[in-house]
Amino acid sequence: MSIRSETRKERNTRKTLILIPPNPMASSSIPIREPHSTPKPNLHSVPASMALAAAPSTHFPLSLSRKPPLLTPSAAASVAPAHLEIPALAFDHKLVVSGGRQLSGHVHISGSKNAALAVLAGSLCCAAGPAVIRGVPDLSDTRTMAAVLRSVGARVEEAGGGEVVVDATRVSSVEPSPDDVGRIRAGFFVLGPLVARFGEAEVALPGGCKIGARPIDLYVRGLSALGAVVELRHGKVRVRAANGKGLIGGQFHLDYPSVGATETLMMAASMAEGVSVLSNVAREPEVADLAQFLVACGACIEGAGTGTLVITGRKQLHGAEFTIAPDRIEAGTFMVAAAITRSCISLSPVIPYHLSCMIDKLSTAGCRITLRGPGILEISAVPAATGGDLQGFYLKTSPYPGFPTDLQPQFMALLATCNGSSIVEESVFENRMHHVEELQKLGARIKLHGSTALVEGRKPRSLALSGCPIAAADLRGGAALVLAGMAAEGVTEVGGVAHIDRGYENFEPKLLSLGAEIRREVTPNSYL
Ligand code: EPU
Repeated sequence: MSIRSETRKERNTRKTLILIPPNPMASSSIPIREPHSTPKPNLHSVPASMALAAAPSTHFPLSLSRKPPLLTPSAAASVAPAHLEIPALAFDHKLVVSGGRQLSGHVHISGSKNAALAVLAGSLCCAAGPAVIRGVPDLSDTRTMAAVLRSVGARVEEAGGGEVVVDATRVSSVEPSPDDVGRIRAGFFVLGPLVARFGEAEVALPGGCKIGARPIDLYVRGLSALGAVVELRHGKVRVRAANGKGLIGGQFHLDYPSVGATETLMMAASMAEGVSVLSNVAREPEVADLAQFLVACGACIEGAGTGTLVITGRKQLHGAEFTIAPDRIEAGTFMVAAAITRSCISLSPVIPYHLSCMIDKLSTAGCRITLRGPGILEISAVPAATGGDLQGFYLKTSPYPGFPTDLQPQFMALLATCNGSSIVEESVFENRMHHVEELQKLGARIKLHGSTALVEGRKPRSLALSGCPIAAADLRGGAALVLAGMAAEGVTEVGGVAHIDRGYENFEPKLLSLGAEIRREVTPNSYL
């Protein structure tokens, strides 16, 4: 028997070691075209004056002979097709909910918002051939992400039924539109693919829900460990490969397992020269989904879904077909909808493993949760199933596989209707309690001490909540307010619906189909 060590080529072609169940929705990786050398953007298509006017810098002189020019966002947008346009915010939307209706029936769970946003950003890695991404939810956030990709010259086409085709073979800019990046957190993730492909990038500071400081120090330090020089100037992060060519594999330990930093560094390391080891990385299913997509595109990533990633850089990634996993946060939200209305519904497709934490908490409360078939979950909170009423419980958010911060507000709304006292500790974001004040207006008995809430639950022999006008301040908090309205006596009007539209596809049609009484009211925007 001969024993020999693995060659670099063999190592590169080895499949990702995914230690958690991979996304079963992901189709087999189908390279659309064989990799070849990275085509540089056509420098002649952009006037040099326009390119240089965008970002003259004494720190990072841009060499037109080597780099893609910095094309202004508006100029880039003018050459891109206008699919997936963001609607003008000319109207205020509110959801009017009549409480007390029981739900029944089945609800379809859309593709994961956060996985879709990461994979859309990852499609910029595909220098050779388009990425065909299925299961992309139609949300204002995914449309904004499409605008970010277009602003650097990628072609983004919506093929219908949640299929989005991104052709990033001819990227013409390394500076995505600051306006679009400033709307969503995930816009910032394109920093990884851009700097890895072109050796430099300039990306505005990101937006997203106002739920905490949301710093970018881990992105900065991680990219530095991969051989980049990073500088913050005028609200933009400018990154360039220190050697003037490209990123170099390195080691980086994340102080905190940040989802976005892990995703950004994973994309960057996938095209850095040599091997990178990233430790204490985020283990969220959305991170594993991005890893599966990148592997389908030819990347070599080991350890997705675990705390350490070993990534062997490839010169170039190709296109692939990929299907986004179902949204575990949307599934959790509908599970709470059933629980808070003491109803029985089923949902699919879901990956039950992703929902372990939520299933555990809801079972503790007294709900009966049953797997009805592959990917089909039934949740019952009707009195016959719970043997009385639901009980409160202790909940603390933490990175996966802990309880997701993105379901904390919805679960807090549920706890306000349960028997007994509950404690909710938010440990991921320091300012994710905006919903508390609005829930209190509905009569919820919640005392807030910093990021810990004591929820006293319903008074004996009385309805827990009663409807009134309230307003969403962020996405998940907004969903929680709608759910609370469904359990409240009378009518609850939830303003700030634009927040909810960022992350829930067809939220109120889905609730309507389950029997909720909910309608959207649209009034002309007061400040236009
Ligand atoms: N953090 C740092 N330094 C960094 C980056 C993050 O200290 O450089 C800290 C943050 O301040 C925060 C913690 O790390 O306290 C977690 O933040 P993380 O970076 O993990 O979050 P994110 O990548 O900004 C994503 C999701 C969020 C979700 C969080 C946590 C996307 C687009 N967003 O955000 O989703 O809450 O992970 O799971 O993937 C939502 O969908 O409503 C949402 C907010």
